[in-house]
Amino acid sequence: MPTQTIWITGASSGIGEALAVRFSRDGARLVLSARRESELERVAERCREAGLEADQVLVLPLDVTDWEGLSGSVQRVLDTFGGIDLLVNNAGVSQRSLCKDTDMSVYQKLMDVDVMGQIALTKAVLPHMLERGTGHLAVTASVAGKVGVPHRTGYCAAKHAVMGFFDALRAEVEDQGIHVSTITPGFIRTDISRNALAGDGKAFGQEDDDIAGGMDVNECAEVIFKGLQAKKREIPVGKGKEMAALWIKRISPNALFRIIRMQNRKS
Ligand code: NAI
Repeated sequence: MPTQTIWITGASSGIGEALAVRFSRDGARLVLSARRESELERVAERCREAGLEADQVLVLPLDVTDWEGLSGSVQRVLDTFGGIDLLVNNAGVSQRSLCKDTDMSVYQKLMDVDVMGQIALTKAVLPHMLERGTGHLAVTASVAGKVGVPHRTGYCAAKHAVMGFFDALRAEVEDQGIHVSTITPGFIRTDISRNALAGDGKAFGQEDDDIAGGMDVNECAEVIFKGLQAKKREIPVGKGKEMAALWIKRISPNALFRIIRMQNRKS
């Protein structure tokens, strides 16, 4: 297979970083994006250690909420590598706060980063893929994109929205040679809860038990890597009881609502 150009957002840590390193072992051309250039450089170094040549990794800092800057970023990738085979919209931020304690500015930020940012970058890349008649668009959604849980009203809303967007987009573009994959991780051990927004918009700053007991991030990256290679439409990944919630929600939504209520009382 010819070397693929793969663009990963949220590549400065966690799932995005692990995925970048996994793809590096396979000889890709990689574009690494997030806001912090120094962290992206650190990840780029790991990618080179994993087997990429220096000219196979492009560090491209960006903020997914800066919609106007995104078309310039797309052009930079095209000028550097000539094409984009796979875009993994992985940048994201979570939430840890009850609805009653959450500022509207927090809801706005969750929507801006987790929904509008993914849509904006996807729309900036889509014309290129349509013109070539080939390409692959992916998004790291979440189990929270299918199931509502406490302390994450805004995050669940955002992840449900992004699932809807990419499912609908698939229905529009699949016949034009473009694959769309939605990734639904359960609890994965990353800094997601430390970086999550508290009700006042500050970082939550703590690791919660669910994340601490979650799947190892490299194991998660392996599952996502294989799912993307196979061009799966949905890629669930996780190891805990939260993965069962995906099935229970389909079979008996009421049973799931009761389980979540009981768990919330216990915690
Ligand atoms: P993380 O906090 O380590 O990584 C988030 C990444 O997104 C970082 O690189 C961060 O710099 C980047 N980012 C945040 N805001 C950005 C912005 N405005 N512009 C550009 N980049 C931005 O957490 P993790 O776990 O690696 O999260 C990656 C994705 O996986 C997120 O979309 C998250 O919602 C999703 N996810 C994570 C789960 C978990 O248990 N860790 C479970 C389900 C989904």
